[in-house]
Amino acid sequence: MNSNQPVTKYRLDYTKPDFMITDIDLDFELSPEITTVTARSQVIQHNATATTLVLDGEDLKLLAININDIPWQDYQLTGRGIEIYHVPSEFTLTIVNEIAPINNTALEGLYLSGDALCTQCEAEGFRHITYYLDRPDVLARFSTRITANKIQFPYLLSNGNRIAQGEFDDGRHWVQWQDPFPKPCYLFALVAGDFDVLRDQFITASQRKVALEIYVDKGNLARSEWAMTSLKNAMRWDETRFGLEYDLDIFMIVAVDFFNMGAMENKGLNVFNSKYVLAKPQTATDDDYLGIEGVIGHEYFHNWTGNRVTCRDWFQLSLKEGLTVFRDQEFSADRGSRAVKRIDDVKILRSVQFAEDASPMAHPIRPEQVIEMNNFYTVTVYEKGAEVIRMMHTLLGEDKFQAGMRLYFERHDGSAATCDDFVQAMQDASAIDLTHFKLWYSQSGTPELTITDQYDANRQQYTLTVKQQTSATTDQQEKKPLHIPLDIELYAANGQIIPLQYNGHKIDNVLNLHQAQEMFVFDCVSEKPVIALLRDFSAPVKLHYDYQDSELIFLMQHATNAFNRYDAAQMLLTKYIVKNVSNYQHKITLSLPESVIDAFRAVLLSSSLDAALIAQILTLPSENEIANQFKVVNPDAIHAIRQFLLTTFANEMFDELYAVYMNNKTADYRVEYGDMAKRALKNSCLYLLAFADDKTTVSALVKQQYQQANNMTDSLAALNAAVKALLVCKDELLSDFDQRWHQDGLVMDKWFMLQATSPQHDALSNVRTLLNHRSFTLNNPNRIRSLIGAFVNNNPVAFHALDGSGYDFLVEVLTELNHKNPQVASRLIDPLIRLQRYDEKRANLMHQALEKLLKLDNLSRDLFEKITKALNA
Ligand code: TRP
Ligand code: ZN
Repeated sequence: MNSNQPVTKYRLDYTKPDFMITDIDLDFELSPEITTVTARSQVIQHNATATTLVLDGEDLKLLAININDIPWQDYQLTGRGIEIYHVPSEFTLTIVNEIAPINNTALEGLYLSGDALCTQCEAEGFRHITYYLDRPDVLARFSTRITANKIQFPYLLSNGNRIAQGEFDDGRHWVQWQDPFPKPCYLFALVAGDFDVLRDQFITASQRKVALEIYVDKGNLARSEWAMTSLKNAMRWDETRFGLEYDLDIFMIVAVDFFNMGAMENKGLNVFNSKYVLAKPQTATDDDYLGIEGVIGHEYFHNWTGNRVTCRDWFQLSLKEGLTVFRDQEFSADRGSRAVKRIDDVKILRSVQFAEDASPMAHPIRPEQVIEMNNFYTVTVYEKGAEVIRMMHTLLGEDKFQAGMRLYFERHDGSAATCDDFVQAMQDASAIDLTHFKLWYSQSGTPELTITDQYDANRQQYTLTVKQQTSATTDQQEKKPLHIPLDIELYAANGQIIPLQYNGHKIDNVLNLHQAQEMFVFDCVSEKPVIALLRDFSAPVKLHYDYQDSELIFLMQHATNAFNRYDAAQMLLTKYIVKNVSNYQHKITLSLPESVIDAFRAVLLSSSLDAALIAQILTLPSENEIANQFKVVNPDAIHAIRQFLLTTFANEMFDELYAVYMNNKTADYRVEYGDMAKRALKNSCLYLLAFADDKTTVSALVKQQYQQANNMTDSLAALNAAVKALLVCKDELLSDFDQRWHQDGLVMDKWFMLQATSPQHDALSNVRTLLNHRSFTLNNPNRIRSLIGAFVNNNPVAFHALDGSGYDFLVEVLTELNHKNPQVASRLIDPLIRLQRYDEKRANLMHQALEKLLKLDNLSRDLFEKITKALNA
């Protein structure tokens, strides 16, 4: 264990800081081996009884402490920082310390990414730079002076405006930055290095000129244009949809190769994982382009939701993340296809977030207790958090929601706020009572709706009975009914909408559920209707309603809401997947009715549906999505059924798939939504075709697409089809790809990921071999995620192999990563802590693996928290 025993922090223990820091002048003498940091802070006592200033600090070498420029001896270093005793009520604190960026493999604080020095301070990284009040409710004005060798580090960047610069005779130069907006230290950033710079500008709605600069590794300029386009689109969108303008004269983005997460919203100086900046048609897929647009938007939108209004404490993380994810989702929806974006987001929620809620890491979107904050940057806080904001948007409507946003900024601009503050602003601006709704912030788990209905032909009445129930989660036994918006629509047999009414009153499509069981009666219903439930996925819940096949097929054709069409198709397939899993376990032949295939054939051949929507409907649910249908998961059965469905679809619809494939070729590559939709449809046809029995034809087709492709979307789609359908050409294509791209890590990530998720029986030994591949390194989080992360998360058959080999492999990797990069290690362990979801044999092996890890020397807080939760569950 650590020298400092992990301590649990509780949300309800929040107290205001005893001291505040209003201004801080930072001075960095940079070098990779030893960087000297001088921090001069203006400190003010806020609690009159406090005379000890307690600062956070980790892995720092203290050189000097002065108070009001006089050396101060009355202090003590502790495991987690420093205690300075008998301080005056207002003073200047100067601290000088050293750090060693070159040894920083955790990528938290100041570290080396390639040849550049950069920082990552969220959540609690600033304490790895200097001793400070490292908490988000301490907001100070930062000024930063950076000195470094000019040849090695020609660009010296920090937050705010560049106000001075100069040179020394000895080859060093310096730059002084000043950020006029008070901010918590987690938004501090510094970058030093040599880059190519893409420059542009943006004129804000009020005619202010903003310089835009994107810094990338030398030679990558051409790959940064899409990021710049996305940035300008995001800036304009925030003005038109939210009325929010940028507030500094300069906005910089730096792309780095070594980064634990997607990107970071540091004030005026966003630092990005290069994966979310760099794109050209030959190296990036359509999904990469969309990912860049989304993440560029996300970080930019944080300037208001996160930076101008920040979080009071880290338990409030969803205040900025849920809201900002909602904003980036809306940005992407407004730019491209709203329906397709919604489906993509719901898929992530259902496959990953529902699984988290059913795991030992279950927590509300506003957690109650935390050991290591880095463990709570989760799909629950981010994606379920965004769903909670979306439900408020549904309840209030766009106009009242925007009024709520304005009130929120009016009240909290320039300060640190809570989730309660946000909901209060929404409630006050709309006059809609959100008291019951707020339970979504404190209750974890996935609610389940069980819906039954009854039609009374004599009275022409239709009655819905809705029950809601949330099962106990590991963190919380008692669950209460939630306020759930349930968006529905009724259809007559001819497809016409039946208006919702009762007693002469029109009823809104969004029903408000409040109780464990409720009834809703509709009259003037002249025939037994077909009901569309949860339109646009109006709440993050599981739905149980006993649909007939014919009703689902009807909804696939007639639902007005595109999400419902997709969802009806998913429900139809899910019925047969569940049935066939049971067949498989009882050794009964697998089967799929002709009517189901015909329904999918009709979608495939539809001339009215958006091509991208057809592609999504034709994409079978992933093995992880399917797994959430079961309390105890059988990975082998799920895989076998999925393979059976793929082959059946391919053989039964071969000619149609082939024709649609041919009809959706795009000539040259353009980043344009219509073209992307065509490529998505064409490539989902190719994928299915690859599973057909006629291997000669499909191999030729796949090989041809791979060889003729002038863009990564098409070549990767072909390679993926070859690998997943185990076509004989796969090895030849894989080695061609390797030859061509081995020097490009971001491209090789795709190649690693394909092999990690291969259905071939020796997938694990291949992954082990790839650990020694020339393009692989355990020092780069992107490589780890694409090879090891993809294997443990998305190759359930191999990871959960009954001989325990997958678990042993993860233990080996985590043993090394535990000290190298605890954050990345902690994300990788997720599939191993879900032992209650597996049969006894697997659960025992997983238990043993966790116990082995618990005994590691210097087990990180990150892994400790998850392992102990799993073992105690
Ligand atoms: N605030 C970042 C975002 O969501 C998240 C982030 C980036 C982060 N880097 C991190 C969180 C490192 C924890 C650790 O946009
Ligand atoms: Zn964010």
